[in-house]
Amino acid sequence: MTTMRAAMYRTTGDAATVLEVVEVPVPEPGPGQVRVRVAVSAINPTDVKIRSGFTPRPIDGYQIPHMDGAGVIDAVGEGVDPARVGERAWLLLAAHEGRQGTAAEFCVVPAGRAIRLPDGISWDLAATLGVPAVTAAHCIFASGAVAGRDVLVAGGAGAVGRVAVQLARWGGARVAATISTPEKASVALAAGAHIAVDYRDASATARLQDWAPGFHRIVEVSLAANAALDAEIAARGAVIVVYSSDGGDPVLPVRSSLLRSLTYQYVLLYNLTDDALRSATERVSAALEEQALDMPPAIRFPLEGIAAAHDAVEARVPARVLVDVAEVRP
Ligand SMILES: NC(=O)c1ccc[n+]([C@@H]2O[C@H](COP(=O)([O-])OP(=O)(O)OC[C@H]3O[C@@H](n4cnc5c(N)ncnc54)[C@H](OP(=O)(O)O)[C@@H]3O)[C@@H](O)[C@H]2O)c1
Repeated sequence: MTTMRAAMYRTTGDAATVLEVVEVPVPEPGPGQVRVRVAVSAINPTDVKIRSGFTPRPIDGYQIPHMDGAGVIDAVGEGVDPARVGERAWLLLAAHEGRQGTAAEFCVVPAGRAIRLPDGISWDLAATLGVPAVTAAHCIFASGAVAGRDVLVAGGAGAVGRVAVQLARWGGARVAATISTPEKASVALAAGAHIAVDYRDASATARLQDWAPGFHRIVEVSLAANAALDAEIAARGAVIVVYSSDGGDPVLPVRSSLLRSLTYQYVLLYNLTDDALRSATERVSAALEEQALDMPPAIRFPLEGIAAAHDAVEARVPARVLVDVAEVRP
């Protein structure tokens, strides 16, 4: 039996307590699946919430964590075009419905969740796409084109927020971002935001209103903190796209929402239909082809440093957290 190095946990709990790096059997791709030799794995808050037990998920004996990663397809199952062997790919939702996450030398996923990577895109950028980019693409585009529209991305330096800024610019929008530090302003502006406004500043509402008569789409990371602001700066008929429950439950400003006929759209990547996932994924691929997405600030850990890597995500380090899994040709 061939084995591979993998990070895994058998029960949920603290990173340092439950995560270990061990040898496990190399998985074989079943019908409709591909196997990817993983170069880089990336961690998102969702991976940490699942590992800690905050988001309950069944564990099938053991769980290799992480939804996102990048590498080369090295084997295909029945029904998958053998020409895909050798294809460079970015991975989406790898650990969503099974134990084969990307924190391992090999990872088996449904063929549609290994997405062809254009030439010249680094493993690092490819590994950071997955959850943030597909979520951002759905948030920006699912309720219609944004060309010529005013878009606000709350938390425009975050993992999802930064890609949302890039995709909104790529889609032809005028883009504002909120941030809380000068460093985060630099990140959001470098991603393409036309302005970055400190959401804690007393003048935030006025500055955003001066800049846009009404925002048509608001991508929201903390409705609890920003519901009143959003309702004040939204255009009539605007869509407020909420992808996170960070900050808890909001008190919704019903009257100002009603007067502007606002729509609150709640997005959870795990609930997207196959069509919606495909559509968002195609947007990300098209943006990648057109070089509209670039590498976010990142820090990296070796696979053996998996617990420290999870701790960094839990501590909300303002950077993407990457895990080097194996040397794979670029
Ligand atoms: N629904 C889905 O399918 C989905 C998909 C991906 C992620 N998520 C969730 O979305 C959340 C963010 O994920 P992420 O990976 O982007 O995390 P992240 O990289 O830590 O980014 C979060 C950002 O939110 C900003 N923020 C916090 N409070 C804010 C406020 N009141 N106003 C404006 N910005 C604020 C933070 O900036 P400051 O530090 O400056 O406040 C930070 O830049 C997590 O809870 C994650 O689990 C959900």
